[in-house]
Amino acid sequence: MKADILLGLQWGDEGKGKIVDVLAPDYDIVARFQGGPNAGHTLEFDGHKHVLRSIPSGVFAKGAITNVIGNGVVLDPVLFRKEAAELEADGVDLHSILRISKKAHLIMPTHRLLDAAGEASMGAGKIGTTGKGIGPTYTDKISRHGIRVGDILEDHFDAMYAAARDRHMAQLAQMGANIDRADFEAKETEWLDALEYIRSFELTDTEHFINRSLNSDLSVLCEGAQGTMLDIDFGSYPFVTSSNTVAAGACTGLGLAPGRIGRVYGIFKAYCTRVGSGPFPTELFDATGEEIRSIGHEYGAVTGRERRCGWLDLVALKYAVMINGATDLIMMKSDVLDSFETIKVCTAYRMPDGSVTEEFPFCVGRNAAGVADVEPVYDTLPGWLTDISAARRESELPQAFLDYVHYIEAKVGVPVTILSVGPDREQTIIRR
Ligand code: GDP
Ligand code: IMO
Ligand code: MG
Repeated sequence: MKADILLGLQWGDEGKGKIVDVLAPDYDIVARFQGGPNAGHTLEFDGHKHVLRSIPSGVFAKGAITNVIGNGVVLDPVLFRKEAAELEADGVDLHSILRISKKAHLIMPTHRLLDAAGEASMGAGKIGTTGKGIGPTYTDKISRHGIRVGDILEDHFDAMYAAARDRHMAQLAQMGANIDRADFEAKETEWLDALEYIRSFELTDTEHFINRSLNSDLSVLCEGAQGTMLDIDFGSYPFVTSSNTVAAGACTGLGLAPGRIGRVYGIFKAYCTRVGSGPFPTELFDATGEEIRSIGHEYGAVTGRERRCGWLDLVALKYAVMINGATDLIMMKSDVLDSFETIKVCTAYRMPDGSVTEEFPFCVGRNAAGVADVEPVYDTLPGWLTDISAARRESELPQAFLDYVHYIEAKVGVPVTILSVGPDREQTIIRR
């Protein structure tokens, strides 16, 4: 068997959680390969809404599905315990369906302090992180100072933790951060306590489990977090997250050889959003942007921040499809555009020197102020002016909407195989 991947093609919040939940019954294993509690994946069914952060979105699927937190993930024990407790309260028997990689890195309380101090030191040029300690934890991983889940089972753990904490405290002092000692000690105690809870899960070398499963013809869906335009290498650097969110990240983040990858589902919204700082060429600063935000409820699932909104950007989308080798497209939140008379789509960028390009250029993301230094070139399409949220079959969709889908397929060269017309599990149309 080959492993499939589902990942975001834009700046995150495309609706990955919803579609992983929809597809999960077709798989034996759902595995997260990067990111951490910076993710907020929303699932809705039976009138209830669940937001998952570090735990894969396969936990609600009926059937014997195993969920895996892979080595590429960074795990905050305190937030994990809270999320897990909520799921167990909802009747999910998490202990029997979840495996955690011993090689996943731990987010420490001092990583969160370093994240905050780093942002504070950058003033207006800040990245606008989720404040969850993501950057500092991956920094420690890459500089070979990190602490991994498997370390909590070893005698060396206490000394390792104390050394890392003291090193971080020295860095914080150098940065001039003001640390409330009593508050920190309370957080540290809570963190150490949460490690005991992590020990109650199956901590394993998940790369062996996943490869063994594929050898036995079991199917695997790899769940991405964030989106391609937030990838550390290919996103709008430095306004990105600190991991590889692209398809290649599933290989390193789970221990999958490239030849093991099957379909790559690339998911995008019918428009664009972005939360945090950084360039966003099609961003709307007018009433239309406000209307998209209000109809689409575009507020962050993790931080509650307003998401910036704009028209669909085909330059960025085609770039993301290329980097990921997307075989299938999934279009989300189509219903949000129901009431717009006309819909704009960015087909090219006009560069600062006046030239026009359809290739995502280096300069997007270079502007120190985080403002896009390209001007979008738009096509204007007619809107469908029909409520499509009750449609469950392609035949129930208005022609103008299908024309929008066909237009995107023709421009990108990849079929849109799933359409989402509302947040609920049921509001999903599988085309082929
Ligand atoms: P993720 O991080 O990619 O999993 O996406 P989020 O959960 O952060 O954001 C997607 C938001 O859109 C959530 O609030 C979903 O409930 C909601 N959503 C998902 N699909 C649709 C859709 O087709 N239509 C509408 N109106 N909302 C949707
Ligand atoms: P999901 O999985 C949207 C953004 C932050 C910030 C940048 C770096 O729900 O799509 P970080 O805390 O990772 O160091 O922040 O990345 N960001 C996200 N934006 N959805 C997410 O996750 C995000 N995770 C991080 O807003 O701009
Ligand atoms: Mg999200």
